Amino acid sequence: MPLVTTTEMFKKAYEGGYAIGAFNVNNMEIIQGITEAAKAENAPLILQVSAGARKYANHTYLVKLVEAALEETDLPIALHLDHGDTFELCKSCIDGGFTSVMIDGSHLPFEENIKLTKQVVDYAHDHGVVVEGELGRLAGIEDAVNVSEEDARFTDPDEVEEFVERTGVDSLAIAIGTSHGAFKFKGEPKLRFDILEEISKRLPGFPIVLHGASSVPQEYVEIVNKYGGDMPGAKGVPEDMLRKAASMAVCKINIDSDLRLAMTATIRKFMAENPGAFDPRQYLGPARDAIRTIVRHKIVNVLGCNNKA
Ligand code: G3H
Ligand code: 13P
Ligand code: ZN
Repeated sequence: MPLVTTTEMFKKAYEGGYAIGAFNVNNMEIIQGITEAAKAENAPLILQVSAGARKYANHTYLVKLVEAALEETDLPIALHLDHGDTFELCKSCIDGGFTSVMIDGSHLPFEENIKLTKQVVDYAHDHGVVVEGELGRLAGIEDAVNVSEEDARFTDPDEVEEFVERTGVDSLAIAIGTSHGAFKFKGEPKLRFDILEEISKRLPGFPIVLHGASSVPQEYVEIVNKYGGDMPGAKGVPEDMLRKAASMAVCKINIDSDLRLAMTATIRKFMAENPGAFDPRQYLGPARDAIRTIVRHKIVNVLGCNNKA
């Protein structure tokens, strides 16, 4: 099966009350771990590539690895640019075979975000590619924000209709309290489901995207800390909150940090227990297994997209 866009996936996910996992890929083992999990669970999949991943692994290598995964799995897979920040980057990915791009103008003033996003949408749609835009900014745990500053970062429901209408985007990433990385909450985790609810009322049937959705499993944090790592206080989004979001208008859930954590914990433990190991396959193999295990868990217990391929 060739690469697909997210249009059909999102339509079914919205109607079915589940979400598609969008997992970041950087190398062969990560792609294999994710796609083997999706195959085992018969799940549709979004593989996403950041500018950093593209720089690290090279556009062509990543596309060819994803093509290999398509051939091996025969699943509906979309290849997506994560956090594109310029028209040129989005164009390069569209010209280079991606079926979906994100243009992240969330740091720009509203009118500039609309202008940049629309420029990408016009080019993408001419080439059969779909576009994710973003409104609102995800907070970083390092920011010592008070409540009103924090509020200012959430997506404003009053802006979403105009943004979607004027840009023509196919999906919209919103900020309701998640953040990137492994340190998401200082205190109790809290997501603004009231904002999500309000946005979905303003955009009936329209697919919403949740970034920063790693749960940061404590068993992996403990392994990292035990074997020389340093992640005290690492905390993610509780899985029941993600399940709730998936049952609402959220059709795409972005997960990267949990895969990094699973991989790193596994390699740290392996190297500590096997100090003589020097064949990369000895530790990259178990790391790939750990990715497969965590992605299967996400598909079945968090996203609910098993058997939806
Ligand atoms: O949201 C960003 C993703 O986790 C990708 O991270 O830019 O380090 O590849 P990266
Ligand atoms: P996490 O850091 O929570 O995995 O979020 C990943 C993400 O949003 C990629 O765009
Ligand atoms: Zn993100």
